Amino acid sequence: MKWIGAGDRDALAALLADRVAGMLREAIEARGRAGLALPGGSTPGAFLTALGREDLDWEKVGVTLTDERWVPPSSERSNQRLLAETLFRGKAAAAEFVPLYSAAVEPDDGLEGIETALRQIVMPLDVAVLGMGEDGHTASLFPGADKLEQALDPEGEALVLPIRAPGADEVRITLTLAALATARKAFILIHGAEKRRILEAAAPEKENPLPIAAVAWQIEKVTVFHAD
Ligand code: 6PG
Repeated sequence: MKWIGAGDRDALAALLADRVAGMLREAIEARGRAGLALPGGSTPGAFLTALGREDLDWEKVGVTLTDERWVPPSSERSNQRLLAETLFRGKAAAAEFVPLYSAAVEPDDGLEGIETALRQIVMPLDVAVLGMGEDGHTASLFPGADKLEQALDPEGEALVLPIRAPGADEVRITLTLAALATARKAFILIHGAEKRRILEAAAPEKENPLPIAAVAWQIEKVTVFHAD
């Protein structure tokens, strides 16, 4: 994995936004469309705002989240709400967004509608931006999660799965490894020395890797963007 650093978190956000925007422009140029998956959580706010300001054919970009908490978009816990308050405040509002939460279904009752929308609008991904927790989870692929084995199956059929895990405050919906691995390029956006230490230690593991390491192996081109 390549590492790119910056003097501070805002500079890192601007750097990554510029890089992701460039890849989206290339995808649109080459294939007429682009698919993008973005993280939630407390790290990516500045990056999402900067990316939303980038000038590109956003109406040709299908956007989704790497994962979502199973809460309505009005909830402070909602990653969809985070995107509405950052990315979609800018030019990126013209993009087509596929939410991972739906009030119409219970997460375990089947997510066919979400899968269909992802296949039609977002997949295959051109760019996936991932966060990471200090337990080595990424998206909502938490160590010890109930469906982790199925979610990390590179040959898996499902694009999204409901996930329950000791480290997650509520039921989550996550893109599976199979969905994330369609990305031509992945970026891992992390802040702080502890996350850097965890990620550097995780990468070489071959047996029983942390979810972040399992994902990073499957996606050929992974670059870490890190600032303390
Ligand atoms: C979420 C994210 C999740 C996040 C990590 C890190 O729904 O929380 O998608 O995968 O990237 O939990 O979260 P922080 O950025 O808050 O440390």
